[in-house]
Amino acid sequence: MYLTKALEIREASFKILRQMGIPKELLYSVCLIPDDIKSIYDIAKDKDISSVLEIGSFVGVSAIVLLTLFKKSKIYCVDPCLSIKSDAKTYGVELNESTDYYFQALSKNFSLCDRITKIKAFFSKIPDDNTIAYHLPNNPDMLKIPVISTVLEQKRKFDLIFIDADHYAESVESNLKLTTEMLNSNGCVVLHDVCGKWGKEVQKGAQMFIERNTRYKFYIHGTIGVVTRND
Ligand SMILES: C[S@@+](CC[C@H](N)C(=O)[O-])C[C@H]1O[C@@H](n2cnc3c(N)ncnc32)[C@H](O)[C@@H]1O
Repeated sequence: MYLTKALEIREASFKILRQMGIPKELLYSVCLIPDDIKSIYDIAKDKDISSVLEIGSFVGVSAIVLLTLFKKSKIYCVDPCLSIKSDAKTYGVELNESTDYYFQALSKNFSLCDRITKIKAFFSKIPDDNTIAYHLPNNPDMLKIPVISTVLEQKRKFDLIFIDADHYAESVESNLKLTTEMLNSNGCVVLHDVCGKWGKEVQKGAQMFIERNTRYKFYIHGTIGVVTRND
């Protein structure tokens, strides 16, 4: 694996996205931080990761980082690809593109398109009413975006599943219920935002899942959460 390269590619991605007009404060508040990358590296460094699923891609930073950490991997990314307008406005900036516009720009810049399958959908459920109210004015077709509960046509499973989407406890539990069914036996689910603003909700969702699914354990490593099978 390539920890140093992954840290560098995050910086390079931020540089490109800032040149495209995204405020740095927005990137810092939404995307992976270096400690997350180090934590993911730590838990996966002895595993052979060739298939990755990401739930919640935003503008693509974490997908690019994961593909760099796991050099032989391919990634499926599920995201509704909403407009960045509402988020940019919070930082006093007017941007009208879809988050997928930036995602595609990064993928092309780093020549990673052939390792990425992007799925425009909500995974598991639509967001809560407040999130809908926040995004709907700039995404009038938002409620027509499909809601999916699996991504694979065939029964192929994933070595690593990274969840960084809807952080409410119920959604986290629901995401875990669905994604653990898609794990290879040695695979793991990595949860973002187990610390900080969303920490309590994300940890609550993980605990709810563990209480009802005793075959799995949940622990925190550094700044990320991990769900794996007990055996
Ligand atoms: C925190 S951002 C992801 C940041 C990204 N992982 C990174 O580190 O660069 C959350 C993303 O999840 C998306 N999202 C929200 N609910 C979702 C759902 N149910 N399924 C998939 N994506 C969702 C949002 O639209 C947003 O793009």
